[in-house]
Amino acid sequence: MEKMYGQFAEYFDELFAYKDYPKEARFIEWAVTKKRSKGNNLLDIGCGSGTHLNLLRKRYNIFGIDKSSQMIKIARQKVKGGKFFVKDMKTFSLNHRFDTIICMFSAINYNLNYSELESSLKRMRDHLNSGGVLIFDLYNNTDTYKPDTVRVRTLRKKNLDLAVISQPKVTGTEYKIGYIYLAKRDGKTELFIDDHVRGIFEVSKVYALMKRLGFKTKIYGDYSSRAWRKGKSSMPLFVGIKQVHR
Ligand SMILES: C[S@@+](CC[C@H](N)C(=O)[O-])C[C@H]1O[C@@H](n2cnc3c(N)ncnc32)[C@H](O)[C@@H]1O
Repeated sequence: MEKMYGQFAEYFDELFAYKDYPKEARFIEWAVTKKRSKGNNLLDIGCGSGTHLNLLRKRYNIFGIDKSSQMIKIARQKVKGGKFFVKDMKTFSLNHRFDTIICMFSAINYNLNYSELESSLKRMRDHLNSGGVLIFDLYNNTDTYKPDTVRVRTLRKKNLDLAVISQPKVTGTEYKIGYIYLAKRDGKTELFIDDHVRGIFEVSKVYALMKRLGFKTKIYGDYSSRAWRKGKSSMPLFVGIKQVHR
C-alpha cells in the first residue's frame, strides 16, 4: 500500500489541512436530497481518516471502507458512531444496503483503467437501494488535466520535518506520481520513494459508463449546484441515482 496511507497515514489530515471539507460535506448533503430511497444509511468508500464522515455523522447512519488498515484505524478513533471495514472498493461486499454512497478526494481514481472503474462502480451500484445516490469527484480527469510541474508539500512538527515532493506523468489511463518523502524524524533523516499510481479518465466516458450501469447522472462543478462545464469548471462531481427496477 502507498506510503501516504501507510507509513505516513497519521500525517494525512495535516498534509491536506488546506482542503475545505465543510464545503464538500455541504455539497454532499445537498446532493443527498436528490435521492429517492427513504433510508439514511451512508457509506464512504476510500473514507481515509474519515473527515467527511465526521462532518456527516449527525445526519446519517455512517459506514466507511478503505483498503488501508492504518487509515481505518485513524477513522475509528476520530469518528464516533461509525462502522468501519478494511476493504477494497473493487471487490467489497457488505451485509448492508445504502441510500447514499460517497467516494471523495480522488478515491475513485484508485481504479487504474475503465475495466477496474466499471468493477468498482458495479460494487457501489449493487450496494445501493433503488433510488439511492452515488456521489464522487472525478479528481483526475483528462478534461481538466494540465501537465504538472514538481509540487512540494511540507509539514513541520515537534519531532518531524517532512517534505513530500511529487511530479505526475500521464501514460494512457495511468496517472503516475513519483512521490519522494524526505523525512527528518527525531533527528534522523530518511528518504522514501513511493511509486503512486492513479487512473485518469474522461468525464464523458465515465458519464456513459454510469448510464450503462443504470444510473441517472448529473455532473456538477466545483462542489456547487451549477452543472459542470468543460473549460469553465474544474472539479467534476458525479451525482448518480440508481434507477428503480434493477
Ligand atoms: C486521497 S485519500 C481520500 C480519503 C478521503 N476520502 C478524503 O476525502 O479525505 C484516498 C483514499 O483511498 C483509499 N484507497 C485507495 N485504493 C483503494 C481501494 N482499492 N479500495 C478502497 N480504498 C482505497 C486510500 O487508502 C486512501 O485512504
